[in-house]
Amino acid sequence: MQRVLIIGGGGREHAIAWKLHQEGHEIHAAPGNPGMALFARCVALDAKNHLSVVRYVKDNAIDFVVVGPEAPLGDGIVDTFNGLNLAIFGPTKAASRIETSKYWCCGLLEDARVSIPFTSYFASFASMREEVQGTHGRIVIKKSGLAAGKGAEVIRMASDLPGALARLERLEDDQYLVQEMEEGPELSFFVLTDGDDFLFGGSAQDYKPLHSGGPNTGGMGGFSPHPILTAELKTQIEETIVRPTIKALANCGCPYKGVMYFQLMITKRGPVVIEINCRFGDPETQLLMPLLDCELLPLLQATTKFGFLRMFEAKFKPEVAVGIVMASEGYPDKPITGRAIIGLDLGPEHVGPNDYAHVFHAGTKLVDGQVVTSGGRVLTVVGTAPDYYTAKNVAMKAVSLIKFEGEYHREDIADEVIATETRG
Ligand code: AMP
Ligand code: GLY
Repeated sequence: MQRVLIIGGGGREHAIAWKLHQEGHEIHAAPGNPGMALFARCVALDAKNHLSVVRYVKDNAIDFVVVGPEAPLGDGIVDTFNGLNLAIFGPTKAASRIETSKYWCCGLLEDARVSIPFTSYFASFASMREEVQGTHGRIVIKKSGLAAGKGAEVIRMASDLPGALARLERLEDDQYLVQEMEEGPELSFFVLTDGDDFLFGGSAQDYKPLHSGGPNTGGMGGFSPHPILTAELKTQIEETIVRPTIKALANCGCPYKGVMYFQLMITKRGPVVIEINCRFGDPETQLLMPLLDCELLPLLQATTKFGFLRMFEAKFKPEVAVGIVMASEGYPDKPITGRAIIGLDLGPEHVGPNDYAHVFHAGTKLVDGQVVTSGGRVLTVVGTAPDYYTAKNVAMKAVSLIKFEGEYHREDIADEVIATETRG
């Protein structure tokens, strides 16, 4: 048994905490959420204040810290811990730039000859606006820094441009990218790396738009594994994208340790990197954790020590997962919160209304003993089964039993893959 502190309180952190709890570890979470509180000690620590986290770790004899979200990584929490020789999972501030600076990341990938969309770089909003004025569309404009999923504007036609520019200007950044719009299915591809070796950490499809053709969100659901990922494509991605990226980071003096989350588009000219994140995906992690058929903690810990990772492999069950995000009315613009959630039949094993549905919390809080909504994405409900059709049914059954006023979810998650499965 080890004592693990998880930084974060969303569905991703709940899923990691659930898996580590299943492995018999003592879980602490900062801040955690009411779902995690059923088996973990939730503490109100300010992750921006690194020394308060260090103090908690020392006072409570925590063996290992797992950082869920990108913000503390971008702030350098790992550097603080490394400086004090305390064990933590995640990249340093410099290595986190693969996510915190798209400008820097795309430059690094181009130099390493990793396939990215054709990209132009701008050092101010004004110079970018001048360049894109009069465009006919089929471009993507991105602000360079973190934007909680709101920093990329896909311009399909000229009339999309004014609104997109107004939204981007409000986000304020010093650097922007303009990319050619790629086409093809999207794939979330995860690897764990110690800065030299890496191992495959699973694949998934995320559904970013609120509804088909709608505005982008943090993610409305997904399925795993992604059937597009043949053994041949996996090798191609590992050899032409993953390995050169890890090498480029090491060569520029910031070896990367932790999880790398590649958002890829499988285009006619092959896999192209749309974005790299320095943390696990949300909702992808809620799909991956129930499928993992080996212990997670040794894999995470192996990334922190040079040369250990090669002794490990992430094994997955021969099953699939489908996850549905239950969101608040008004999400993503102005979610209405504070609504009571009923039907959360959370037992000690932390499963949902039937044995196979996992209910992971995100935007929830406890008020006078009642779980109420407190954010845009409220819950991720995940079904696992031997096939996508059954996994979706399991998830949807659980979704139908959990209720709160104004609840919204997508009905079409995994439909394409179910159609292919049924045909094939
Ligand atoms: P990002 O914030 O970079 O992950 O982008 C959000 C979403 O915008 C992606 O998941 C894609 O659906 C879309 N996107 C971003 N860049 C491109 C691109 N160059 N071509 C087509 N779609 C893109
Ligand atoms: N699945 C989207 C994200 O984690 O950024």
